Amino acid sequence: MSIALKNILGTRGLGREDISTILNTANAFKEISTRPIKKVPTLRGRTVINLFFEPSTRTRTSFEIAGKRLSADVINITGSTSSAVKGENLIDTARNLEAMNPDIIVIRHACAGAAELISHFTESSIINAGDGAHEHPTQALLDLLTIQEHKGSLDGLRVVIVGDIAHSRVVRSNIFAMKTMGMDVRLVGPPTMIPFEIERLGVEVSHNLAEAIRDADVIMMLRVQTERQNKFLLPSLREYSNLFCLTSEKLERAPEDILIIHPGPVNRGIEIALDVMQDERSLILDQVTNGVAIRMALMYLLLGGSDDGLN
Ligand code: CP
Repeated sequence: MSIALKNILGTRGLGREDISTILNTANAFKEISTRPIKKVPTLRGRTVINLFFEPSTRTRTSFEIAGKRLSADVINITGSTSSAVKGENLIDTARNLEAMNPDIIVIRHACAGAAELISHFTESSIINAGDGAHEHPTQALLDLLTIQEHKGSLDGLRVVIVGDIAHSRVVRSNIFAMKTMGMDVRLVGPPTMIPFEIERLGVEVSHNLAEAIRDADVIMMLRVQTERQNKFLLPSLREYSNLFCLTSEKLERAPEDILIIHPGPVNRGIEIALDVMQDERSLILDQVTNGVAIRMALMYLLLGGSDDGLN
């Protein structure tokens, strides 16, 4: 199991074979997290720095758990406790971390391109844990792993992605990865939340949720990202949820075996109803579980892989 990549900056740069290798490796690593002793020596002596300039529950924690389950030394730095608050710029921060010889730097930052920027100033492998509204590649990979587990394969599946398309890094990474894996992607949301000419990426656009899910295999609900929006994209959250919140009533129009996913965190009752979150077809917590396996796989593969990774 290996990939010829130094960094994971986005899914746009990943080929079909890369994605298959990452998903297969993650599948193999899942079992480690079910053992009584959830640790293998695979990355013993390696150092992973988690550098998070934006809030995170799932991504930051799962990168830390993933590194620790592989026996790496994991150091966590948040923006508010770093010297960024004293005015140090991102390049200087990266250069100073690099001077301590880490193997991997995981970065989340509010600016699109932050992960790529520091990749030009470090020898360490860089993993993008979310950069502005640009990409969130590890989220897309864990989404694919979750879908593949439940549907068997990805090729030809119809995925409907609903909500704030314009501000979502999750959508961009999923579109690139899903198209690479031969999936059909349909985007649904209010016109103010759908970027102009996004169809150029090979996706369909609809503004009618009930129509769009009639023949879907998977529905991905997105969080309304109030922190990234300019004002006036929505008349009101109530109007948004009337049209685009996934309720049991709307779900009745979908095929029985549709899968429901959401990257989290969830605004309950705005983009997804509580009873739908608890529906047996909802895989929201499976996605979180798979996030650990995907991040273990990426750390392992970026640092060279080997045949004894599971011992
Ligand atoms: N899905 C996701 O990125 O969640 P966090 O912001 O909690 O990491």
